Amino acid sequence: MCGIVGYVGSAPVAATILESLRRLEYRGYDSAGIAVLNGHGIDVRKRAGKLKELAAAVAARPLQGRVGLGHTRWATHGAPSEVNAHPHVDCAGRIALVHNGIIENYAELTARLQAAGHRFRSQTDTEVIAHLIEEHAKRLPFPKAFRAALQELRGSYAVCVVAEDEPERLYGARHGSPLIVGVGRGEAFLASDVPAVLSHTRQVMYLNDREMVELGRDRLRLTTLAGTPLRRNATRVTWDVAAAQKGGFRHFMLKEIHEQPHALSQTVGNRLDARAGRIGFDRATRQFLDRFTSADKLAIIACGTAYHAGLVGEYMLEEFAKIPVDVDLASEFRYRGPMLDRRTTVVAISQSGETADTLAGIRLAKAQGARVLAICNTVGSSITRESDAVIYTHAGPEIAVASTKAYTSQVGVLTLLALHLARQRRQVKEPQWRDWLHTLARLPQLVERALKAEAAIKRIAKRYAAAKNFYYLGRRYHYPSALEGALKLKEICPSIHAEGYAAGEMKHGPISCIREGWPVVVLALDSPVYDKVLSNIQEVRARRGSCIVIASEGNRGIARHADALITVPRTPELVSPILAAIPLQLLAYHIAKWNGCDIDQPPNLAKSVTVE
Ligand code: M6R
Repeated sequence: MCGIVGYVGSAPVAATILESLRRLEYRGYDSAGIAVLNGHGIDVRKRAGKLKELAAAVAARPLQGRVGLGHTRWATHGAPSEVNAHPHVDCAGRIALVHNGIIENYAELTARLQAAGHRFRSQTDTEVIAHLIEEHAKRLPFPKAFRAALQELRGSYAVCVVAEDEPERLYGARHGSPLIVGVGRGEAFLASDVPAVLSHTRQVMYLNDREMVELGRDRLRLTTLAGTPLRRNATRVTWDVAAAQKGGFRHFMLKEIHEQPHALSQTVGNRLDARAGRIGFDRATRQFLDRFTSADKLAIIACGTAYHAGLVGEYMLEEFAKIPVDVDLASEFRYRGPMLDRRTTVVAISQSGETADTLAGIRLAKAQGARVLAICNTVGSSITRESDAVIYTHAGPEIAVASTKAYTSQVGVLTLLALHLARQRRQVKEPQWRDWLHTLARLPQLVERALKAEAAIKRIAKRYAAAKNFYYLGRRYHYPSALEGALKLKEICPSIHAEGYAAGEMKHGPISCIREGWPVVVLALDSPVYDKVLSNIQEVRARRGSCIVIASEGNRGIARHADALITVPRTPELVSPILAAIPLQLLAYHIAKWNGCDIDQPPNLAKSVTVE
């Protein structure tokens, strides 16, 4: 987490870096800083708080130069204060660097350097890198000193460095945290993510772990950390900067909620080959899936919202394709000693493709001989590069910290995967298959209709906005929906505590909290367990809890069981998790809005969790 940017070229350096940092603020926003090589030395500005504080500081005392770097922080070591904000400099103030990741051996390196006379100013794990380079630079030229320092680091990093002795150069390296090079005409960028460079160039080169790059206005030298030269072409990014802007919506989250019909037409619609009566995965994916045998099992790993998508996938893959599936939080999977082998396919789900725990789970799986299939939204990300095959969600850039369209697209891909494998394993008859494809083809329109409930949801949100606790209940496919609905609310409205439960679990504990007016969001869409969900509603209402019920359109009987009712189009259960997600997202959004929350950038969170 944290966004880093470096620039070398002839544009005004501070304005260019600040603009790029704005596009990375989703990665962290508790403090920010910028450093510029001004021809005489390094000029640094840092501020606690959001980027606008830094922009004001730069406006008050402008920075001049042609080479510089910047950072927007999500604190891991040391409070989010000005002194801990990046860039960090060495003792002499001749080297400045920004970092994303965690240096695990910073304490021992710091002790060694302090003993050698280095003076530290911050509590971060980052500052040590600047001093380490300074120490090596006593006997080595700068590029070699940088390389020697990197070789001593344990942990994860993407770093960007400038040095007074190298006035026309920008250096970067990565190990475990993302870093890209934006290749422009007479200018070059380093950045944590593509949107940071898109208004300047669409030519992007992705760095791999243990690689280092040296950039000048017309120079790009890529090497391994050991110094071996590498050759790699830049790739052209096809989406533009407009796709990563708000487009008239008040928040990215609302824009992204409304983008779901389009996103799903990209994710699902474009893959339905109605004429051939099949799901049109690309050739590499089909070949990967063709190798799947009846002895194989699946292990799904993911974090947060992507984990909830994985839980929906588990229900579908077991029900339709009859494949045994385990679903794990990636942060647990990597430490629980999972039993994997060549007969296991690990499905790793991630919007960003950079989540540290999911990436570590992939590495563990591969080390044990398992094959890895990624479901990912970010082309060229670390997870896609380390997996054996990738199904892209194609949801477009997701900027709001709270995941919306990435979630429904992940569920969309898992639905396609379950149905494809069901057919491959001869678990489905032709009429059923045609029905499924027909339902999936209508999905974007169905989601469009579900979005029409927004005005009613906004009124319901106002009614419940002052509540401090919410429960979310569901069964089968809607148990994960309940978890996801609760996560959305607590994520963007931190003054509210929300928990999701399998509705059948209520009696085993959570029901003891229910008292008058306690809001309980119940997913009561058409399903084989509808009657059981109805009983759960009665149990809540018998204790004077207040049920906000999400049900299928045309269900006349449900209104008398609901304190507030939201309906979504009636569909086969297969696509109901996607439809249910829409009112859950809108409800969370409008409750947060009534509460005046910082919806796109909730406190303590970051979009991409690249540290463990
Ligand atoms: O990029 P990923 O999908 O791997 O991210 C996983 C989680 O960090 C993410 O889903 C998080 O829970 C979201 N902020 C939820 O809205």
